[in-house]
Amino acid sequence: MKTMYRTRTYSPFVGLELEDIDLSGDLSEEATETIREGLSQYGVVFFRNQHLSSEQQLHFARSFAPVDRNRFFKAVDGYPEIAEVLKESHQRSNIGGGWHTDHSYDLEPAMGSILLAREVPPHGGDTLFINMAAVFDSLSPGLQQTLESLSAIHSAKHVFGYEGRWARRADADGRILNPDVVPEDAKHPVVIRHPKSGRRILYVNPGFTVRIDGWTESESKALLDYLYSEAMRPEFQCRFQWAAGSIAFWDNLMTWHYALNDYHGYRRLMHRITVAGQALLN
Ligand code: SIN
Repeated sequence: MKTMYRTRTYSPFVGLELEDIDLSGDLSEEATETIREGLSQYGVVFFRNQHLSSEQQLHFARSFAPVDRNRFFKAVDGYPEIAEVLKESHQRSNIGGGWHTDHSYDLEPAMGSILLAREVPPHGGDTLFINMAAVFDSLSPGLQQTLESLSAIHSAKHVFGYEGRWARRADADGRILNPDVVPEDAKHPVVIRHPKSGRRILYVNPGFTVRIDGWTESESKALLDYLYSEAMRPEFQCRFQWAAGSIAFWDNLMTWHYALNDYHGYRRLMHRITVAGQALLN
């Protein structure tokens, strides 16, 4: 990727750190295009030392797309469009502690998520990312062709609903709210096209995909388990270590992420803005 900014790639497939870009004010065209290009090539871009106010984080997000407000996370006081991703020192469960794609349960899933670290533990609490376009490219042409004919059902019920995982957690402590607004399940193509690059992406994830459309649960499980085990190969991953003021901006169509929960006894507070996407096409 050609750009006037200094860059650091985290792996051949996923993760690009962009240096020398100040996100606190209006972005130049060159900076905006570099970020868009980094996202479509590496799935997630990282920035350091960006101690943005909430207003500045919102301004940055809106230079890419309108904000897609998360309905389930407790919001930052005074900023309903910013979700708190919080684990207190006495809590055991963390938010996002399994491979997933944000908002895949929506009919029009969010295009991206912008996570800003406010407080981080002295060690641990890293986030892992996978590039699902690279995973798709690694499959055989025969399997790729089969996958392109399929759709999958995505749901939030088992996570955020009344009977969901968060409803059963003793230490949820008001971090996850509104089980009554869980949407109807959404159907998306198993293989989607990236709206900017046209790249094909494997669009299923362990967090929210519940079955292949028209298949039984056990048939779906056999195929999904195989795809997930391929996706989780270490070469498709990168790992981001946070400091206060770090930002990760991920392309939500193209990546999975996983927030590690290895820092019990410490507080970790992140502010997340999701930006709107559109219906997915294959
Ligand atoms: C998330 O899943 O959006 C949170 C990721 C993180 O806290 O690292």
